[in-house]
Amino acid sequence: MTHRFDSTSMAKGLDVGTMNILSARQDASETVFVQQRNSFVEIEYSDMAEQMLSRSEVLHIRKDDKVYVVGDDALNFANIFNKETRRPMQHGILSSEESSAIPMIKLITEQVVGEPSFENERLFYSSPADPIDSDLSTLYHQKTLESMLGDMGYDPEPINEGMAVIYSELADNNFTGLGVSFGAGMTNVCLAYYAVPVMKFSIARGGDWVDEQSAQATGTPVDKVTTIKEDDFKLDFRTDVGGVEGALAIYYENLLDYVIEHISREVDEEDVEEGLDVPVVVTGGTSSPDGFEELFEDHLEDASIPFSISDVRQANEPLYSVASGALVAARSEEEDQPEQEEPMEAAED
Ligand SMILES: Nc1ncnc2c1ncn2[C@@H]1O[C@H](COP(=O)(O)OP(=O)(O)OP(=O)(O)O)[C@@H](O)[C@H]1O
Ligand SMILES: [Mg+2]
Repeated sequence: MTHRFDSTSMAKGLDVGTMNILSARQDASETVFVQQRNSFVEIEYSDMAEQMLSRSEVLHIRKDDKVYVVGDDALNFANIFNKETRRPMQHGILSSEESSAIPMIKLITEQVVGEPSFENERLFYSSPADPIDSDLSTLYHQKTLESMLGDMGYDPEPINEGMAVIYSELADNNFTGLGVSFGAGMTNVCLAYYAVPVMKFSIARGGDWVDEQSAQATGTPVDKVTTIKEDDFKLDFRTDVGGVEGALAIYYENLLDYVIEHISREVDEEDVEEGLDVPVVVTGGTSSPDGFEELFEDHLEDASIPFSISDVRQANEPLYSVASGALVAARSEEEDQPEQEEPMEAAED
């Protein structure tokens, strides 16, 4: 364990996503990320399982006669024990169908973000905008996370997910442009001028939707489809007609058109300053496959978008954008305001 006493920032960023929870903190000149899958699997308690798990690094908790394996290892254990993974979140917010959602997300978040460096350390956490294509509300989700993070000793502040993308990817353009985060449960869109969000919305479709549709079309278990997609899937439309990859390509293209249609409907001329060309940045895990950026750009060109686009960019590290942007926002606030609290002794980690 190393202790550093140099310019470590006193603020953190947190991305609470439907599939991944990530924290970001600044350590000297480096941004350090910690990531876990927002997922768990329930297995029957046995002395064997308990012993095996206690000796390993696998994140787990026991409750009555059940053991829950949580985070990255959930998918492996699901495959070994022939179980399905369960998810605390769905469509970008806490799942109403999962009774263990809150304790599980708490456990994962605690592991990912750690203890605050001092009481009431500032923490910006991502929160989606309300979806325009469903009547889900994000308020309960946002408030529940706020109190959970407060209980952990942080001073939490929500930041819109699309805005976080603009903070991380459009610093060189005065934080002006359109940010699109293609996640698992949602796609978040935000238009900002000089770091001020002028329009934001989400769409209740993302990678999970692509997986579910492809699973249904081909009669394949969803976990299997997700694994195939994340492994080596390319959007080149040359592979596997009739197979899982063929179905993935079809639903990917459909998702892009659906998102573009909503962008052109929601962002109208009045939102965009006259004569301004807007850069568009795409990110999120769902934007990872080779060919995604080109496909998005092609379909955007074909659409009748009511404003002028200067260029389409893709984030270098799509899984880290939101956490990284939340950290930028937290740190810029820190620079604006003199520090109120006295730092406590370095917390153990
Ligand atoms: N290499 C990859 N190829 C294709 N899809 C990927 C890849 N890696 C991750 N994904 C997909 O990206 C999605 C997760 O992305 P991300 O972490 O940005 O979402 P999230 O923030 O958890 O979700 P949301 O923002 O919707 O709440 C999942 O659907 C996952 O299967
Ligand atoms: Mg996300």
